Amino acid sequence: MPKKNWIKIDDILKGKKTGESINVRGWIYRTRSSGNIVFTIIRDVTGTIQATFKRGNLPDEQFENAKKALVESSVELTGKIKEDKRAPGGYEIKVTKLEIVDFAEPFPITEDQSIEFLLDKRHLWIRSQKLTSIFKIRSTIVGAIHDFFRKNGFYELDAPVLQPNQCEGGATLFEVKYYDEKTYLSQSWQLYAEAGIFSLEKIYNMGPTFRAEKSKTSRHLSEFWMAEMEAAWMDLYDVTEIAKKEVKYILRQVLKCNKKELEILNQDIKKLENIVNSDFPTITYTEAINILKEKERMNVQWGKDLRTIEENNLMKHFKTPVVVTNYPLEIMAFYKPPDPKDPKTALCFDMLAPDEYGEIVGGSQRSTDIEYMKNRLKEMGEKIENYEWYFDLRRYGSVPHSGYGLGVERLVAWICGIDSIKDSIPFPRTINRFRP
Ligand code: 4AD
Ligand code: MG
Repeated sequence: MPKKNWIKIDDILKGKKTGESINVRGWIYRTRSSGNIVFTIIRDVTGTIQATFKRGNLPDEQFENAKKALVESSVELTGKIKEDKRAPGGYEIKVTKLEIVDFAEPFPITEDQSIEFLLDKRHLWIRSQKLTSIFKIRSTIVGAIHDFFRKNGFYELDAPVLQPNQCEGGATLFEVKYYDEKTYLSQSWQLYAEAGIFSLEKIYNMGPTFRAEKSKTSRHLSEFWMAEMEAAWMDLYDVTEIAKKEVKYILRQVLKCNKKELEILNQDIKKLENIVNSDFPTITYTEAINILKEKERMNVQWGKDLRTIEENNLMKHFKTPVVVTNYPLEIMAFYKPPDPKDPKTALCFDMLAPDEYGEIVGGSQRSTDIEYMKNRLKEMGEKIENYEWYFDLRRYGSVPHSGYGLGVERLVAWICGIDSIKDSIPFPRTINRFRP
């Protein structure tokens, strides 16, 4: 039998098929009937279109099936394309043949359901127009990250997910039983990347990352994807420049490929276009504290990490992402070195997104001072033996090096302009949820 030629809905909406008889397959998105006519909206990956079934235009039995079929039933249909100004999208299919692939049971998701219910039914809610648009954008973002690093001479190198060491503090480690011992899920690719740069020099990776975050915020997931880079010979300034270029590259790709999805999400496209064409400023933590004190009249203390409220108030003064460098050394991870010009601060940076999205990138130069790192780890109650392999990297041809990690979901949430980070990953894991 010859294979049927299936037409995608967006090709119809572009006016390429008007007057033709075509085949379409997809799912019933909406349906209503009155007497001898059934109006449906059919969806496929590319869009939605009205399809009408009129008794007499198709075999009676098929018309009855059209009347019976509930929302989310999967269908194959044949029909003639007509331009119709009244139909959403301006075109409709006048159906002459209908095959129901599967009659759907009553769909549990209807309008106005609670966020928790939608999370329970995530495996079905993932079909919604909102999530579909977000995941199309996420796909562009992930592709752009690979493109960016490969075009700039980085090799992709993987690290183990099961790791015996902490990287970002013991408090958020997920413990895993490993035969008769215990190990942890990766908090970061970084420590292993630092081994990789001695041969590959410039490397990157994107992978799942785990943090037992006790906080319930719209920014924290327990499992998220981090895109990280690490490079030999680079200093703090070099990597902040790469981070700025990377974020702009990603944003440019989304603006090129996903205008339709951004519109569906009601995101302000002009605003994003302005950002892509602007410079991202760099300020120090101390300057950030001064802005909060002077312009926001906040009573903030030098030496504490910026809380959500402080990041939000700071970002009121910027329209683009901002790089903040030189956070207080004491509150930083063990591998971040003091800045010789200002030793109370570290050679580190965060990139903060505008509006209320907060930190999207975190990185630093890496310490090459074994004694310094040993002391920091001891203060944190870590077993130094576990880090001997890492100190070896400073014993055999050590070089200055730096890197950073970008939170993929934080970036997706900011670019899409959505309220919660949970919608930027297909199946979110948080302190309260690891199902479905
Ligand atoms: O700032 P972080 O903790 O940096 C590191 O892990 C470094 N070792 C990375 C490196 O230098 N290679 O995390 C990096 C980014 C943050 O800026 C944030 O965007 C994201 O990862 N992130 C989270 N995203 C969602 N949920 C969480 N719980 C996150 N924790 C960090
Ligand atoms: Mg950070």
